[in-house]
Amino acid sequence: MNVPLYEKIWMWAAGGIIVAFITTVLVAGIGSALVPPSHIETIDPATVWRDGRFAKQGVTVSPTGATVIAVGMMFAFLPAEIHVPAGRPVTFRMTSADVTHGFLIVGTNANTMLVPGYVSQFTTTFRQPGQYLIVCNEYCGLSHHLMSARLIVEEARP
Ligand code: CUA
Repeated sequence: MNVPLYEKIWMWAAGGIIVAFITTVLVAGIGSALVPPSHIETIDPATVWRDGRFAKQGVTVSPTGATVIAVGMMFAFLPAEIHVPAGRPVTFRMTSADVTHGFLIVGTNANTMLVPGYVSQFTTTFRQPGQYLIVCNEYCGLSHHLMSARLIVEEARP
């Protein structure tokens, strides 16, 4: 069969795009550097306060970074004020004690959902010391708009 040259070019171009898409999916799915910010760790939302992982909320600072344990609930975050060092990786471990909430630190790339039944975890570094507003960005009830907290990024002590 005699296929015109332009038809051939377009066939190869379409084939190339398909191969590029499949490669992207495989690299994103298998590549270890591209895991989603959450991980599949489950928790019973009814026993969050008794669960050893979340019974005590707060920040643990170490020389290499900090870990934040926080819980979202209608209509607050615990703790309501989070102090972390600047320039060091901060790992947030959070969950919800009731319904789905959002956790957005305004002006940063920290943004996740707090889904009952799951532990949301991500690590990020805040370069700029200062005060940041944390808001719930998933509608969770009548006082959703009041659900906020503060992040204080402090100049790291040497
Ligand atoms: Cu919590 Cu909206």
